[in-house]
Amino acid sequence: MSEADTALPALHDASLLRVDALLGGEWVSGPSRFAVHNPATGTHLADVTSGDADQARLMVEAAERALPSWRSRSARERGLLLSRWAQLLRQNADDLAQLMTAEQGKPLAEARGEVSYAASFLEWYAEEGKRVYGETIPSSDGNKRQWVWRQPVGVCAAITPWNFPLAMITRKVAPALAAGCTVMVKPAEQTPLTALACAELALRAGLPAGVLAVLPANADDSIAVGQVWCAHPGVRHLSFTGSTEVGRILMAQCAPTLKRLSMELGGHAPFIVFDDADLDSAVEGAVQAKYRNSGQTCISANRLLVQAGIHDAFVERLAERVAALHLGPGTQAGVQVGPVIDASALAKVKAHVDDALALGATARVGGQVRGDLGPTFFEPTLLVGVTPKMRCAVEETFGPVAPVLRFDTEAQALALANASEYGLAAYFYSRDIGRVIRLAEALEYGMVGVNTGLISSAELPFGGVKQSGFGREGGHHGLEEYLDTKLVCVGDVNA
Ligand code: SIN
Repeated sequence: MSEADTALPALHDASLLRVDALLGGEWVSGPSRFAVHNPATGTHLADVTSGDADQARLMVEAAERALPSWRSRSARERGLLLSRWAQLLRQNADDLAQLMTAEQGKPLAEARGEVSYAASFLEWYAEEGKRVYGETIPSSDGNKRQWVWRQPVGVCAAITPWNFPLAMITRKVAPALAAGCTVMVKPAEQTPLTALACAELALRAGLPAGVLAVLPANADDSIAVGQVWCAHPGVRHLSFTGSTEVGRILMAQCAPTLKRLSMELGGHAPFIVFDDADLDSAVEGAVQAKYRNSGQTCISANRLLVQAGIHDAFVERLAERVAALHLGPGTQAGVQVGPVIDASALAKVKAHVDDALALGATARVGGQVRGDLGPTFFEPTLLVGVTPKMRCAVEETFGPVAPVLRFDTEAQALALANASEYGLAAYFYSRDIGRVIRLAEALEYGMVGVNTGLISSAELPFGGVKQSGFGREGGHHGLEEYLDTKLVCVGDVNA
């Protein structure tokens, strides 16, 4: 690869650029390679090894070999390694952010924020792993003693998405490792470089060979790798973040081996603003919940439901904020919204906007592809006059488009909000304490943000209901996913 062919950022530590798979503690090349591109420019970044079914099997074997000694270490020892890894992420934040922005597109400031978010999972589970408590259960038989122990589930597999190339890895891997499991990761084919740099830092932190493995793969090989891990009886848990469609396929593939599963799937978050909301706070929350990561988060506000009495003032104020958002390549100073990930993402965003405009909505701000900026830029957009029949009101857009629907009553808002097969996150703004409790109870979602557009944090359980999946990541709930419950019942105590 010549200098002219690549647009790789200059790193302080060039050895963070890894292009092979991490298998059994070694960097190993696969039978073929695939190209990684910069979404902001379309330029080629690197050719990364594409793992295949054989490598996927070898990884399971290495993870099985590493398991007994890893699970027998004390939680404190495992925690120290996780803390050291977190420290290295923080120390190398600039390089990690550069790699992330290059292959994912998000603005550098957001990428730095993600490094910190990713490190926070390692830090949190380094401590929480020490609190895997059992129970003593009094027996109804005086001759018996009974305990409940928690033990690591074993070898785990994680399939991670491109929208948060670093944090979605540590959010899965940190609790698994803290629990005493070994983990194999298949990062998204769009963003393997951040994942591999993260793995390099894990090695430097001292994670033993085989405890963590990372297998990049192109789209076709990803299917083969997934099939091996889903079918393998040695893999006891699969964690997946991605679309509901792919989640269903993986779940079916895991059924014969009855694996434990954590599925963080699609979303279609309602963002409801009631007449009694604090207007400034609601506008700020909408900007955060909608335009962060160019609208490419599973918990993005996908539709804004605004009560009639505040509708015009809210739209006016939000339009000013959206029009002022700076769209451009993530490496440019001051940019707040970057490109979407690829051509098919751009086509979906455009199709949603075109559909809404054709059915009578108006683009109050934006609405256009910005080919002059690069191949996958779409303007931060605010659509008004949206109705429940439009695609953007029904499907996940995954782009920087905020459709506004008007409603009159709380009952209407609730019905609109719950009329979705998805149930990941919902947001609403109100200062009426009765409504706050009523709505938070009635919304069929795994996470509800009240008077805030930001709800993610290492100590909180992240996850959905309905077709958004099941299982939780973050908090002590996230650790539960990687622990089995064992009953120990001892008889003849008085013999
Ligand atoms: C996601 O989009 O799945 C992650 C978003 C977050 O953690 O805030």
